Amino acid sequence: MEQVTYNGLTFEPYIRREKIEARIKELARTITADCGGKRPLFLVVLNGAFPFASDLFRAVETDAEISFIRLKSYEGTSSTGTVKEVIGLNEDIQGRTVIVVEDIVDTGTTIHRLLNDLRAKNPAELKVATLLFKPESLRCDVKPDYVGFAIPPKFIIGFGLDLDGLARNLPDIYVLKEQAD
Ligand code: IMP
Ligand code: MG
Repeated sequence: MEQVTYNGLTFEPYIRREKIEARIKELARTITADCGGKRPLFLVVLNGAFPFASDLFRAVETDAEISFIRLKSYEGTSSTGTVKEVIGLNEDIQGRTVIVVEDIVDTGTTIHRLLNDLRAKNPAELKVATLLFKPESLRCDVKPDYVGFAIPPKFIIGFGLDLDGLARNLPDIYVLKEQAD
């Protein structure tokens, strides 16, 4: 794995695809044990969570459904602090076990706002599965139920995570290289 450059920023390898795939299988086993028989609805937060959701959903061994929502709160490499709902929810989630699938929980602003909106629709259970979690960046009262990797507050790309729309198709995760000046 080599370094990659997007918009003049250099990134170095951080988490390899084999490690990501193995960890997603573990999460799927835990979700199967916790939610088996409840026909959970996986609610995928687009765009970033789609590769994670695709692997996770196919590895879960119980009847399950999937649906998609789209939100945006980021520009460049830092949070704008505002969350806009772009594509809404069509399913009736009342009485359902809902698993929100995120690429990353950073400040927690996005997921906190989404969970509040979803809670108002009276699901039986509301859980969060996130591939990545930056606990030191957290500024909201949220605790993801299923976490792939807890990482330090560094900017990463790949496996769905983007820099202004780019790099989502990298099969591995890369971290922004520290400037040597
Ligand atoms: P939060 O609202 O601050 O928790 O940010 C959540 C959203 O910000 C995620 O769904 C990502 O789209 C984006 N984000 C946070 N950290 C990163 C990162 O390191 N790389 C790319 N996108 C990120
Ligand atoms: Mg993003």
